[in-house]
Amino acid sequence: MDKFVIEGGKILNGSIPASGAKNSVLPILAASIMTRGTSVIRNVPDLQDVRTMMRILEYLGAKITFKNGTIEIDSSDINRCDAPYEFVKTMRASIALLGPLIARFGKAQFSLPGGCVIGPRPIDLHIKGLQKLGVDINIEDGYVIASVKSGLKGNYVFLGGSFGSSVLATANVMCAATVAKGTTVIEFAACEPEIVDLANFLVKMGAKITGIGSPCLTICGVKKLSPAEHKIIPDRIETGTFLLAGAITRGNVTVEKCQPLHLGAFLERLGETGVSIKSGRNFIAISGISRWKPVDVVTLAYPGFPTDLQAQMMAFLSLADGVSVITEKIFPERFIHAGELNRLGASIQLDGSRAIVRGVKKLLGARVMASDLRASAALVLAGLAAEGITEVSRIYHLFRGYHKFEEKLNYLGAKITRQKDTT
Ligand code: EPZ
Repeated sequence: MDKFVIEGGKILNGSIPASGAKNSVLPILAASIMTRGTSVIRNVPDLQDVRTMMRILEYLGAKITFKNGTIEIDSSDINRCDAPYEFVKTMRASIALLGPLIARFGKAQFSLPGGCVIGPRPIDLHIKGLQKLGVDINIEDGYVIASVKSGLKGNYVFLGGSFGSSVLATANVMCAATVAKGTTVIEFAACEPEIVDLANFLVKMGAKITGIGSPCLTICGVKKLSPAEHKIIPDRIETGTFLLAGAITRGNVTVEKCQPLHLGAFLERLGETGVSIKSGRNFIAISGISRWKPVDVVTLAYPGFPTDLQAQMMAFLSLADGVSVITEKIFPERFIHAGELNRLGASIQLDGSRAIVRGVKKLLGARVMASDLRASAALVLAGLAAEGITEVSRIYHLFRGYHKFEEKLNYLGAKITRQKDTT
């Protein structure tokens, strides 16, 4: 296993482009199997999760090429509709195949996704939503066994759960509804930009969807879909992560080829800390300050503050001039990074789904361990600001969602080396 060795105290300056959004690519690749023929997906980041999804699709029988950020996927010869545990356990997002497999084959066998370090990952909303469209679903030996006897039928589906909307449950039900007989209304649908991107791809495939971007989607079923070409939206979480890398090192960082409109809540909070922010049609520039103000953050479904930027924001606020309270409303247990940040000298106390972050004057380099994708990014950000050397082990988590992470940070002036972790 590899580790990052970070020499802290370097100020990051400069511009980098945002990559395509991981959480848009995954459901769109899944949706492309709903029709025979070849779809072309552009602006695809070369990430481990993308490679995992490609492996699953090839296992199902798809033929895929991935060159210079473009994936061509020919789903004509897909002849399986099962997703075994060894795939699903490595990437929970493979659940995004459930709806498309049912839409194409009228059946699917899917390993129940395990939990993960950010908390339990139930799929009750996926199951409830698909059942409303006429899918028979049983759970047997850790597998979801789904089948449709007399065809998918449009229906009214309420998809609100105890934590609000569900991104991938919305994706699954929307995909299945595109070829259901009749009209489906999805109430309390997720409004994340990645769901909008998926809906726009489905419309290019011939789906009839209105209300895109709103919590109420109306889908009129069509007889068949066709392959489509699509360019993936910029990754808002990667964008926010790099802006915080600039802010925590008191530098001036611009992220280009991004979509500022997808980061409203995040930029609002970041601006309240005193960091100066300039943005245009497709760029965001921040100018760091020596000491920033604390802010309270509550993670919510889009357009609220994204849970996927919570850990990175906690790292930044650990050096604020006062106390910040972070409330995690999406994944209440998503605080595994707090303990590791405290090893770097932060002063963070957990109280259920809240983290009390008492700003400290400085962080001190130490050895810390990454645990999930976004927590790993938070530890790297803290290491950039800490005095001395920080070693982040188990950095393989990062490669799931960040393409050339350390290269991009080093290009901005960081000093990060990747080394074998012999401990
Ligand atoms: C997507 O996961 C993202 N993953 C996550 O990003 C992101 O954190 C999450 O949405 C929330 O924005 C992808 O898009 C691949 P949810 P998803 O269903 O769809 C509860 C990253 O770091 N829930 O929107 O699995 C659930 O427990 C990843 O890129 C149910 O109760 O998340 C959570 O509390 C991490 N029942 C809340 O809803 C269900 O059936 C939101 O989860 C489904 C979810």
